[in-house]
Amino acid sequence: MCGIVGYAGDRQALGVVLEGLSRLEYRGYDSAGVAVLTEGKIAWAKRAGKLGNLTSALKESPPLPGTVGLGHTRWATHGAPTDPNAHPHTDCDGNLAVVHNGIIENFAELRDELKAGGHLMTSETDTELVAHLLEDEMAAGPAEDGSLATAMRSVCQRLDGTFTLVAVDVRDPGVVVGARRNSPLVVGRGDGENFLASDVAAFISFTKDATEIGQNQVAEIRAGEVTVTNFDGSPGAVRDFTVDWDAEAAEKAGFKWFMAKEIAEQPRAVAEALVGRVGKDGRLVLDEMRLSDEELRSVDRIVVLGCGTAYHAGMIAKYAIEHWAKIPCEVALASEFRYSDPILTKSTLVIAISQSGETLDTLMAIRHASEQHSRVLSICNVKGSSIPRESDGVVYLHAGPEIAVASTKAFLTQLIACYVLALYLAQVRGSMYPDEIAMALDHLRAMPNAVEEVLERMGPVRAMARELAGERCVLFLGRHVGFPVALEGALKLKELAYMHAEGFAAGELKHGPIALIEPGLPVVIVTPPPADMPVLHDKIVSNIQEIRARGARTIVLAERGDEKVAPYADTLIELPPVPPLLQPLVAAVPLQVFACEVADIQGHDVDQPRNLAKSVTVE
Ligand code: G6P
Repeated sequence: MCGIVGYAGDRQALGVVLEGLSRLEYRGYDSAGVAVLTEGKIAWAKRAGKLGNLTSALKESPPLPGTVGLGHTRWATHGAPTDPNAHPHTDCDGNLAVVHNGIIENFAELRDELKAGGHLMTSETDTELVAHLLEDEMAAGPAEDGSLATAMRSVCQRLDGTFTLVAVDVRDPGVVVGARRNSPLVVGRGDGENFLASDVAAFISFTKDATEIGQNQVAEIRAGEVTVTNFDGSPGAVRDFTVDWDAEAAEKAGFKWFMAKEIAEQPRAVAEALVGRVGKDGRLVLDEMRLSDEELRSVDRIVVLGCGTAYHAGMIAKYAIEHWAKIPCEVALASEFRYSDPILTKSTLVIAISQSGETLDTLMAIRHASEQHSRVLSICNVKGSSIPRESDGVVYLHAGPEIAVASTKAFLTQLIACYVLALYLAQVRGSMYPDEIAMALDHLRAMPNAVEEVLERMGPVRAMARELAGERCVLFLGRHVGFPVALEGALKLKELAYMHAEGFAAGELKHGPIALIEPGLPVVIVTPPPADMPVLHDKIVSNIQEIRARGARTIVLAERGDEKVAPYADTLIELPPVPPLLQPLVAAVPLQVFACEVADIQGHDVDQPRNLAKSVTVE
């Protein structure tokens, strides 16, 4: 949430910062702003709305020359998305500029104190008070060393809440100072230039060498130097890493939307998520599984956590874990988890699923679990992010950057990671024979082709999107692993098409939701494979008949050749035959395409839906 870029080097900072912001805009697009240290003063510009508003304004105004600068793209928390509330914020004299991601919880008391001290506030944001706190610290400078980093360390100790802050000051030129607590910040290390950013996408076209900034640390970047300290001034321990994807991976590559590109990338992403999972001895290996076999054998219960799409992946993981590894497993919304007073012991394994690795609800949930001495394993895409850093082990998705707000390839690769993890647990605990695990892996290896096959047959789905784009409401039904797929299909349509969409367990229909059925209402049904799940299949066929009897328009996703269900489908979307547990990998894809197409037909911004952000770093 909120994208931040800082630059110190020998290039014109404005260009570097704007390029970084364009790659971070998925984090929030309520407003954008930049500041550059230019000839002993700070020049800045900011505009409400998308980054395009700012770049148009910059074209019409005098240039902002200088080689040190920062920028921000905002997802509004404190204060409406207006020009005055856009970042950067400055102090009373315009000597410094600061940008912020997060929420400062002791905002009200600090603001009162600053107002009483004569500071003039020009926005409704919590960020602005940081500019004024820094102003006071810089004014008191000679008592310390007068550096912006010293001022930042001392201000951070007064702040409650979550924040990434990045600042520049005319009195300490040549340096950009960043600080973080519970919000992301990484350093990009170049040759004679350095970067600060919310994530590596911002500087990937300049350097792949990055450094994770830890909790409660301050980073100072200069053209030729990076220094990291803790808030108390002691040297900060950091970890360097190399970004394993290229700038082109973050381009649209001829697609109209990032989402369309990311949907199309899924066969490859699924294949890559499986690479390197089997060792020479044929046994499964996981990249950063730092938990020993002994620790995994002592696990007596698993809790899977996630938000949004990641939660739906977790619901599917439960089926795989219980079926293959035979460990009792429950799934919880990360945002609810720690408030439910969960029973956690050192034998509980908590699995956190998060594409970004920064979702604050999930981060706080795993911290709670760690405090109760439970082991935490995370399934994440973004290296160097907070959740993997605070976990006892990580399974990375290797999906490459996912830029569209609505998750697609991350969902499918999260499922792959969950399946592989379930098989790994089965291997460690001996709940499956090696040849059974090998067979399950063979099925997984066939999935990239199956997903490709689905993508090649999207004509009927696109036609359906054209027909249904004017509808006000669509329902989604499923059973077993089809239920989370139904929830995911509904979430996609809500997120992108702003349509009322609900997913239900098909068996629950008769307990209430059936009252919603009226003539012509589109209902999407995810049908389990008939041969492998005959009982459930028959039940869902009955459910379809029940809604058809009440006039619903049925859109049925079913295995190719499923003749039992075909007569009851107003629209039939055929899926390739796959094992029942793996069906979400093929069934989710038409629903992604459907939502993307409907939103496009409606003229919405598919990649940046209203009110949403991809990386949600507030609770
Ligand atoms: C936001 C996004 C969703 C995403 C969720 C969890 O709400 O809009 O698409 O599923 O966050 O994100 P994570 O990065 O933790 O997977």
